[in-house]
Amino acid sequence: MNKLAIHGGPKVKTGAFGTGKRFGEEEKKQLTEVIDNDMLFYFFGNKVFAFQDAFAQLNEMKHCIACSSGTAAVHIAIGTLQLKPGTEVITSAITDMGSLTGILYQNLIPVFADIDPRTYNMDPSSVESCITEKTGAILVVHHSGLVADMDQFRGISDKYHIPLIEDVAQAYLGDYKGHLAGTIGEINAFSLNHFKHITCGSGGMVLTNSDEKRRLAALFLDKCYDREGGKRNPFFLAPNYQMTELQGAVALAQLKKLPGIIERRRILGDRLTGYLQGIPNITPQAIPEGTRHTYFLFLFRIDTDRLQVTTKEFSSALGAEGIPNSANLITGGMPEYAYDIFKNRTAFPQSRHPFVNKEFGTNISYQDTRCPQAEKAFKQVINLQISEFYSDQDIEEMAQAVEKVARYYLISQ
Ligand SMILES: Cc1ncc(COP(=O)(O)O)c(C=O)c1O
Repeated sequence: MNKLAIHGGPKVKTGAFGTGKRFGEEEKKQLTEVIDNDMLFYFFGNKVFAFQDAFAQLNEMKHCIACSSGTAAVHIAIGTLQLKPGTEVITSAITDMGSLTGILYQNLIPVFADIDPRTYNMDPSSVESCITEKTGAILVVHHSGLVADMDQFRGISDKYHIPLIEDVAQAYLGDYKGHLAGTIGEINAFSLNHFKHITCGSGGMVLTNSDEKRRLAALFLDKCYDREGGKRNPFFLAPNYQMTELQGAVALAQLKKLPGIIERRRILGDRLTGYLQGIPNITPQAIPEGTRHTYFLFLFRIDTDRLQVTTKEFSSALGAEGIPNSANLITGGMPEYAYDIFKNRTAFPQSRHPFVNKEFGTNISYQDTRCPQAEKAFKQVINLQISEFYSDQDIEEMAQAVEKVARYYLISQ
């Protein structure tokens, strides 16, 4: 039997992973045009507007509004719903803090739904069980690039007349029964941070078919200044989340590369899924029929009942074989409700606002919040880095290393 590299045996992966440059002549050309134009402010420039048009067109949606980050995009989407402070917003127990920041800044209360243990997306039945008369929105996160069960969420949203928002930060061009991720909710948020499929350093956007939501989104990202109407008389509180022309230029160049990036990641990710399906006691993330993954991350579960190993040990052993990975599901190793900000209710200094507020009628504690499937996932799931620059051989070696480590811990029992 092959000795593990962590025990001094030979590594599975000895060569370097495929790499490539994400930015090149296209970005330089766009940026040069911005500098030559001598204008960085989006409203007087043309790159941000061109990017908005191109992104809306790619997704066959009526409106795109670009902004400064994915966190800003979620905040804008939430802001356009104009929910009363103290209203509850249901979202996933496993997501980035950027999904939650805007909820709290709008004085709203996140309520955490559990996940489906096969897909790591929210479980529709858990979402439905979280609905109360205080629920004002459902924020669906397409975790790791896999579109959530949108028929179910659309159904719940319609049944209870609760607006649906999609957080598509990780799932550009994700496919759900012929619909693209980010085209099903009322207003849907994307991220252009450095780690996403495409990036402009930091940036984001929302997509909507609603003229009214577009109007509110344009105001929300710009201090509630009505640039289009030439009026400056803010009537609600709004931050400055403008995208600059520099970001717009890079985003425009990156957008042209997006379909190719997704296509390549799909080929590599689907291949790795196939390999891992054949390894005993290893279960790759399930891809439900009619859904196409975009592989922002590649997740798999280890059967800790049958393998004598913790996820951390497995992760270290895999790392020693030359395969970068982590065992934290992007959240830092715990569900969101275990973060100090929720556990201790410290969103704002010297106050438990908005969790406890007499005027809003809120008195929320997360001490007893439990999402058993999310908690279990942290004990069993590993994510592998995946890149469009990886070679077929990289993918084969990743699978070989997972198999070597899995077999070792089974046999060593
Ligand atoms: C699901 C999700 N939502 C929101 C965000 C926030 O995006 P940004 O980092 O651009 O603010 C991220 C970023 O990691 C994310 O993964």
